[in-house]
Amino acid sequence: MSRMRVAVLISGRGSNMAALIEAAKDKSYPAEISLVLSNRPDAGGLVTARANGIATAIVDHKLFGKDRAAVDAAMQQVLEAHRIDIVCLAGFMRLLSPGFVGQWQNRMLNIHPALLPAFKGLDTHKRAIEAGAKRHGATVHFVVPEMDAGPIIMQGAVAVRPDDTEEALAARVLAVEHRIYPAALRLVAENRVSVIDGRCLIDGAPVPDAETLMTQT
Ligand code: GRF
Repeated sequence: MSRMRVAVLISGRGSNMAALIEAAKDKSYPAEISLVLSNRPDAGGLVTARANGIATAIVDHKLFGKDRAAVDAAMQQVLEAHRIDIVCLAGFMRLLSPGFVGQWQNRMLNIHPALLPAFKGLDTHKRAIEAGAKRHGATVHFVVPEMDAGPIIMQGAVAVRPDDTEEALAARVLAVEHRIYPAALRLVAENRVSVIDGRCLIDGAPVPDAETLMTQT
């Protein structure tokens, strides 16, 4: 069976992108990373992508002034040129227009470093510690126009330790991200995820609870 063609959208270091690239090196993985698209020409992840022989593209939003629709149209053109089936946002730090999001409904994934719907937005690890959360983690979800919302595909949790620092917690959550993003993309690429009433079903069953994953860091 031909593999799904995936574009990973990044703005920075691209460690989640790298995890997806690694997973897709296995020929039995149902998706291939066909394109890495960055809004920033200096994103570190572009170097990693090129080193892996993956096509890269840059749509630099700064060249478009305030015209968000034009930025999104340019991205759409690149995605179509590469015959992309699925888009994975991985540290892509731009809001997308509802029109663009609509074109990728249930075909665009995002990873967020918190157990959504808790801690949307930035500084999630600091806020989880300050709130006294006992569990924290990461979520892969389908993208909807509202930021950090949308049907949840997979979650992974870690225990918050009494003496945790933001950096230590972030590192443990990142290890979880690198495990759940390839796993969630696999489910989507295998057409095992459906969305009913705004919620994901996996093989027709509710998404399992966030598994608490043991991480070394
Ligand atoms: C990750 O924590 C991801 O969850 C968030 O942005 C960060 C990106 O890191 N959306 P990286 O570029 O994948 O290393």
